[in-house]
Order: sequence, then structure tokens, then C-alpha cells
Amino acid sequence: MTETTVTETKPAPAKKAVPDAQTVTAVKHWTDRLFSFRCTRPASLRFRSGEFVMIGLMTTDEKTGREKPLLRAYSIASPSWDEEMEFYSIKVEDGPLTSRLQHIKVGDEIVMRPKPVGTLVHDALLPGKRIWFFATGTGFAPFASLLREPQTYEDYDEIIITHTCREAGELTYGRELIEGLKDDELLNEVIGEGFWKKIKYYPTTTREESAKMGRITDLMRSGEAFRDLGVDGMNAETDRAMICGNLAFNLELKDMFEEYGLEEGANSDPKHYVVEKAFLD
Ligand code: A2P
Repeated sequence: MTETTVTETKPAPAKKAVPDAQTVTAVKHWTDRLFSFRCTRPASLRFRSGEFVMIGLMTTDEKTGREKPLLRAYSIASPSWDEEMEFYSIKVEDGPLTSRLQHIKVGDEIVMRPKPVGTLVHDALLPGKRIWFFATGTGFAPFASLLREPQTYEDYDEIIITHTCREAGELTYGRELIEGLKDDELLNEVIGEGFWKKIKYYPTTTREESAKMGRITDLMRSGEAFRDLGVDGMNAETDRAMICGNLAFNLELKDMFEEYGLEEGANSDPKHYVVEKAFLD
């Protein structure tokens, strides 16, 4: 009789599948406070440019020890026709999600719930001649989507994008994106060469020297922004607007718009302007 030693081989613990996982394809750090990344797009995901989805990372629940997703609402920065998804994010040192998300690398997996929602969509606005996009900080993200969306140029004669940041470096993502539009193949083909001449870009900074300093709200109140842009002001007949910034900014602009006679719209009731809070962790 031969003696056989049976060695128990435990199967290696299976790598837990991340639910709704998407793979990171590119990461770019713009400043020590800002970064953008691209990832694969769920095959079933349809969205309208300007909408947001819930994205995040798996985390361990302190009480149960179970793995669960930690999710936040993120505006999709890429347009609806893009094969991949793009996001633009702040980095908060002690932010539950962004303190970890800022370290993602190409090949990593993130969680994405494929259920887009949001109010910054063309469907929520009545037809008009001129559209204004008002952003502070990472509130630029939905406009990065809408500026690459052909419908924006089909629907409007003029597109004004204002972006207020603390420091000049925080404008770079937006500026490069807008400069790059001139070479956008789809927009040149669908809208026609020179489509980008419809865009007026108005970047301002509040805490570092730049070509134009001040909060956009103050610059509008004093009339300086309108003079710089060569427009008479805003009115319900011609102007449509989308706002995406911090809460105080959104409320201040809403008040100003109501004074101009503009009314807030929604998907089910399109009007003159729409608002969304930029993500902050
Ligand atoms: P400021 O530096 O004067 O506060 P934050 O990083 O705090 O979200 O701010 C982003 C940008 O938005 C900053 O330039 C900030 O200006 C500006 N901002 C903050 N609150 C308002 C507001 N109520 N109206 C206009 N701009 C604002």
C-alpha cells in the first residue's frame, strides 16, 4: 500500500466582481486640486449631453465589513456620441470619495450606475437665439459635454461660456477643451467649418491675477461682462442659460435671472434657464 499525502489546496479567494464596473482608460491631473479621467462606457448607457450619473469606488463598510460602493453624482463631461466617458473632478484631501478617486490609474475599475439624470439638457429649454453656460470650478463638466454636442450649435446662433475659478490654472481644462473644438471632426462635418465662431469664452479668476478678474455675478451686475461680450444683457425672448456651480453661485444667478425676467425650466416644463449644483466632496 502506498501512502499518499493529500495536501489540501484551498482555492485562491475569488476576486470580488465590482458591480457595474468600468475600466479607466486615461487620467490627467490639471492642478493639485483638479483632475479628469476617461473610462469605458457601458454598452447599454444612453444619455443626453449635460446629464450626470452616479460613479464611485468599492469601499469596506466599517460596521459589517462588507464591500459596498461609495457613489457620488458626477456630470458626464463627454458628449452623448462619445464611445468613452469623461469626468472632471476636484480632489479633496479628506473627501470620502475624491481622496481615493484622485489616485486612480489606467486599468483600474470604477463603479458606474448606468442611470443618467439631470436638468442641464436642451430639452428643458425653449427655443432661443443665444445660450449662456455659467460655471464655477468643476461646474464646467456638463458644459464640456454640451460644447461638444452638435445640437448646441444647431439650436443657437451664439454660445457664451463663462467660467469663474479661484486660480488661473483651474481654467486650463476648459480653455484647452474650447481651443480643441476648432479641430473637432464631428462638429466641423455636421455643423460646418467655422462653427466655433459662435462661441464666446469668458474666463475669470477671483484669487489670482489673470486677464479678467472678478466673480461673473459682480461683472454682470456692473455691466462690465456684457460690455466685454458685446451684448445688451439678457432677456426672455432671446436668451437661454444653464448654471452649474456651487450653491451660493447658483442662487445668486437665479435671483439675477428672475430680475431679467427669465423663468426656470425643467424636462417636463421647458423655459428659459436651468440649474444644477456642481459636485463637491
Ligand atoms: P471667490 O474666490 O470670490 O469665493 P469654490 O472653489 O469656492 O467653489 O469657488 C469657485 C469660484 O466661484 C471662485 O472663483 C469663487 O470666487 C466663485 N464663487 C463662489 N461663490 C460665488 C458666488 N456666490 N457668485 C459668484 N462667484 C462665486
